[in-house]
Amino acid sequence: MGYEYILVEKEGAVGTITLNRPKVLNALNPALMKELAEALETWDADPELRVMILTGGEENFAAGADIKEMVTRDAVQMMQGVHGNAWQRIRKITKPIIAAVSGYALGGGCELVMCCDIVIASESAKFGQPEIKLGIMPGAGGTQRLPRLVGKHRAMEMVLLGNFIDAAQAERWGLVNRVVPKGQVVAEAKKLAAELAKRPPLAVKMAKQSILHGLNVDLESGLTIESQCFNLLFATEDKTEGMKAFIEKREAHFKGQ
Ligand code: CAA
Repeated sequence: MGYEYILVEKEGAVGTITLNRPKVLNALNPALMKELAEALETWDADPELRVMILTGGEENFAAGADIKEMVTRDAVQMMQGVHGNAWQRIRKITKPIIAAVSGYALGGGCELVMCCDIVIASESAKFGQPEIKLGIMPGAGGTQRLPRLVGKHRAMEMVLLGNFIDAAQAERWGLVNRVVPKGQVVAEAKKLAAELAKRPPLAVKMAKQSILHGLNVDLESGLTIESQCFNLLFATEDKTEGMKAFIEKREAHFKGQ
């Protein structure tokens, strides 16, 4: 499928999506968001594909929603959903998504990072929720996912002041998994994706679901979700293969069945 605002590359079980509006620092216009949701959904339904990487390349991840597109929008248009439902579609993706972040990840860009499951950052990365400086506030998860990730007080500082934090601080605060030297973020994400692609896909999917659902419910409900996912995996061939391989002292080969 041809896309205008994103590049897609499938290498075996790993799919990489590169946001591709470099002249505007990959600002997220509705058309780009729609393409992104479509590409992710296509791969989510592709049995060959096991892991997705979302990146803006080695320069910038995304400097947020497209301000030039939003400047004339009014509240009624926003409530009518002129921006579409891409964010809702992206959060329903069931396969793991690794974010590979360089340069700016601001506003909707930072929120997109937080929709991903594992985050590799270049030492050039800068994160922020600067919407407040535009007279608005985050609207794609920034006030919800950010405090869950970094805690209330840090989220308050980022959202109320709108200033940026660098990669090292994002790592200290738990917003990213690790920081790698400039120019190496996509290669590092691909290395991790290759390893993740060897894991049993159904177990990966259920574990992702269990973690995400569990974050939004009380502990007792979360433990119930976990135990249902856990029990269900005993119906898979991959469970038999994984345990047999351990006992036979060989590498397991998972088929996603
Ligand atoms: N929307 C539209 N265009 C953008 C943009 C954005 N979010 N961010 C950058 N651009 C454009 C600039 O307008 C500029 O285009 P022109 O050359 O045509 O003027 C080009 O990208 C390069 O940007 P700068 O010249 O500004 O580059 P800089 O290095 O001086 O500054 C920056 C970089 C600090 C990231 C600055 O561009 C900036 O502050 N961008 C806006 C960040 C922002 O406020 N993001 C939040 C958007 S709202 C949102 O995301 C809502 C939500 O939650 C969904």
